[in-house]
Amino acid sequence: MKSTKSPHLEYAKNYWKSFLDKSDIAIDATLGNGFDTLYLAKILIEPVNATGRLFCFDIQKKAINSAKLLLKENLKKNPFKNINIFNNSHEDFTKYVKTKVNLIVYNLGYLPKSDKKITTKTKTTISSIESGFKILAKKAAISIISYSGHIEGEKEELALLEYLKKIDRNEYSILHLRWLNKQKAPSLFWIEKK
Ligand SMILES: C[S@@+](CC[C@H](N)C(=O)[O-])C[C@H]1O[C@@H](n2cnc3c(N)ncnc32)[C@H](O)[C@@H]1O
Repeated sequence: MKSTKSPHLEYAKNYWKSFLDKSDIAIDATLGNGFDTLYLAKILIEPVNATGRLFCFDIQKKAINSAKLLLKENLKKNPFKNINIFNNSHEDFTKYVKTKVNLIVYNLGYLPKSDKKITTKTKTTISSIESGFKILAKKAAISIISYSGHIEGEKEELALLEYLKKIDRNEYSILHLRWLNKQKAPSLFWIEKK
């Protein structure tokens, strides 16, 4: 892997890419400016014969507008035919997503260069993951990047560590990647259905 400012994200993307087929369905639970969705769309929507779908969530209208622009400018096909964007919290996917999904991605925290108080929160993140488990297809995974460099992010990461440790190992394999020689480094959790 080439050197980059966000190696955790590059690792996550490598997992997404090797896991997904072009007919799969994915959720971006934290759309933000749309960079992660764009990456997923290049696997699931853009290739010839791709029949994948994407569902995206964000509570900020500002993020949604910026993501829509990014997708329009960078995808050749009409992106909104196969990408549904919800200006809603990711707390309960079952209200919006009526199909089984193969991958759910979270890039937790706040919108870069924006109000840091509008950030993902422990309680809603955990209930979102719980609702995510209910809609996973047979082949499915959940990818979570968490950031312990800010107070809410640190709480969220500690809660995730506690919560994920208790998940049945007969049902899911859970990997935790973190740079040990870097203070407050982001974490990547990869939860794969067995
Ligand atoms: C770190 S950013 C995501 C970055 C994004 N994936 C990208 O590629 O640009 C985190 C996003 O999560 C959103 N968010 C916070 N709480 C949320 C919730 N309960 N449901 C959905 N989105 C939420 C924030 O508004 C913010 O845009």
